[in-house]
Amino acid sequence: MTETLMKRTDYCGSLRLADAGREVVLCGWVQRSRDHGGLIFIDLRDREGLVQVVFDPTLDADTFAQAEAARSEYVLQVRGLVRPRPEDTANPNLATGEIEVLCHKMITLNKSKTPPFYIEDDVNVDELLRLRYRYLDLRRPVMQDALRLRHKTAFAIRQFLDREGFYEIETPMLCKSSPEGARDYLVPSRVHPGEFYALPQSPQLFKQILMVSGMDKYFQIARCFRDEDLRADRQPEFTQLDMEMSFVREEDVREVCERLLQFVFKQALGRDIPIPFPVLPYAEAMRRFGSDKPDLRFGMELIDIADIAAESEFTTFAAVAKKGGWVCGINAKGARFSRRTMDDLKDYVAVYGARGLAYIMVEEDGLKSPIAKFFTQEQLDAICNRMGAEAGDVLMFVAADPAITADSLGHLRCEVAKRLGLIDENELCFLWVTDFPMMEFDNEENRWKAVHHPFTMVKDEDLPILMEQPDKARAKAYDCILNGCELGGGSIRIHQRDVQEKIFQLLGLSEEESREKFGYLLDAFEYGTPPHGGLAFGLDRMVMLMSNKESIRDVIAFPKTQSATDMMTQAPGSVSLKQLRELHIRPVQREKKEQQ
Ligand code: AMO
Repeated sequence: MTETLMKRTDYCGSLRLADAGREVVLCGWVQRSRDHGGLIFIDLRDREGLVQVVFDPTLDADTFAQAEAARSEYVLQVRGLVRPRPEDTANPNLATGEIEVLCHKMITLNKSKTPPFYIEDDVNVDELLRLRYRYLDLRRPVMQDALRLRHKTAFAIRQFLDREGFYEIETPMLCKSSPEGARDYLVPSRVHPGEFYALPQSPQLFKQILMVSGMDKYFQIARCFRDEDLRADRQPEFTQLDMEMSFVREEDVREVCERLLQFVFKQALGRDIPIPFPVLPYAEAMRRFGSDKPDLRFGMELIDIADIAAESEFTTFAAVAKKGGWVCGINAKGARFSRRTMDDLKDYVAVYGARGLAYIMVEEDGLKSPIAKFFTQEQLDAICNRMGAEAGDVLMFVAADPAITADSLGHLRCEVAKRLGLIDENELCFLWVTDFPMMEFDNEENRWKAVHHPFTMVKDEDLPILMEQPDKARAKAYDCILNGCELGGGSIRIHQRDVQEKIFQLLGLSEEESREKFGYLLDAFEYGTPPHGGLAFGLDRMVMLMSNKESIRDVIAFPKTQSATDMMTQAPGSVSLKQLRELHIRPVQREKKEQQ
């Protein structure tokens, strides 16, 4: 006979000493059971934590037999009395450790197969297995905490933005394809043979159109889709906190975002973050940190020694310096790296294009360095002086074109900081990087590309050089950086048709192409478009950083693998020929196979 389910009164993990004496009804999963000769102890787990349930032989035989039979992950309902644990058996490591529940009645609601891995934190399990059995993985307290934090974050965002007068407005998922940035995910149309929708890479143009519509302040917790190479902080579908405002300047957008982050980090995480954030222009960020998303939790800035190198006998460095390349170094203070470590680090920077990594080891009895012989004592003194060198330090140098030197040393700086334990994992270092260039030249495609996106406004003072030097013209764009990760990015937008057309022209779009792809935007610009701007934060990244996780997969309920597969549902998968026919699609691969 199936026993009827009683109404639950409490969560297992919420009971405390103050509940002693209460009769409670709990539901949960068996974490662990122990049979102590006549007494059975079951740790019952739910979303809020664990509680110890005691079964003694005075119980009815049926309940006792069920308790004996209960195994890991069985689902139980327990009615019982909360009582203090005998003093010497209290468990200070458990929130419910001062009490236990003496069972009066138990029902086994469901059984479970033996799970493929333990449902506990710090289990060393292959991530693919975790993803395949995601429902079990999500039972682990760390994952429950991550999803709770995500909920609290989203909730705090809505609270704050509602108070600030933002409207939450949904925008379409089935959109027009306009590949500018990543590759689109396409959806074939059944009704329009041979035509496709694209899933949105972001709601960018819809939110601009909402400004034309007079909505004034918009936000959306929006799903975005980008078919790009995946990394630890990138997923093919991810979530943005997307925002847009009318009649604002760069500093207005930044100011609202700072207050938003301050509120959200306080509400969801209990952390105080000081505002305003420091602002670093792009050029300065590159020069000092070799990155447009510098981690400011540690120093180790890039030091320019091109002037000294140019005068030296070290021809490799001198040549780069004379050609206008960057010759820079960083000082790993007190690192005392071995030759072997230096070899490792040389391989490390090679990934970013550096042909070599020159170094000087500063020791008590002088400098040890394969390159010292090419410099005069005066030059060496000047380098050491500029870099603040002291015994124990290791000075490392890269000479290459500016982009390679910046990228190599920018990454090396982080790698060395990691190795030297310079990073305080609890610190939250926010900053704005501003004044990005409007365009960069894509050598592969042999054309200009927008650094942020093509709808970004140029700085007023740089408008005259926009057409001739699009890489020198600065954009009204800003990125929000947290601990070396790009948390969000946005810009003030173009709101005049002629400027927008100029940008499309720079990007190599013909008039017809611009009309075909973005005609509706250009048309809208002719009906009284307010100046507007906004920003989008990566919500997954935000929660990842809040919870000190290494990957956004750990804060997404059902993420995809590196190869964009859903391990649990096995998506993507094949579909029937009938479905394809309805969509007017001829499967090339399958046809080929069938012909063979
Ligand atoms: P952008 O492309 O910079 O800007 O994206 C904004 C933020 O979204 C996050 N993000 C991602 N997170 C996970 N996986 C991805 N594949 C991924 N790609 C981006 C990052 C990034 O900072 N429409 C503009 C915003 C604007 O101008 O208002 C946009 O999408 O945290």
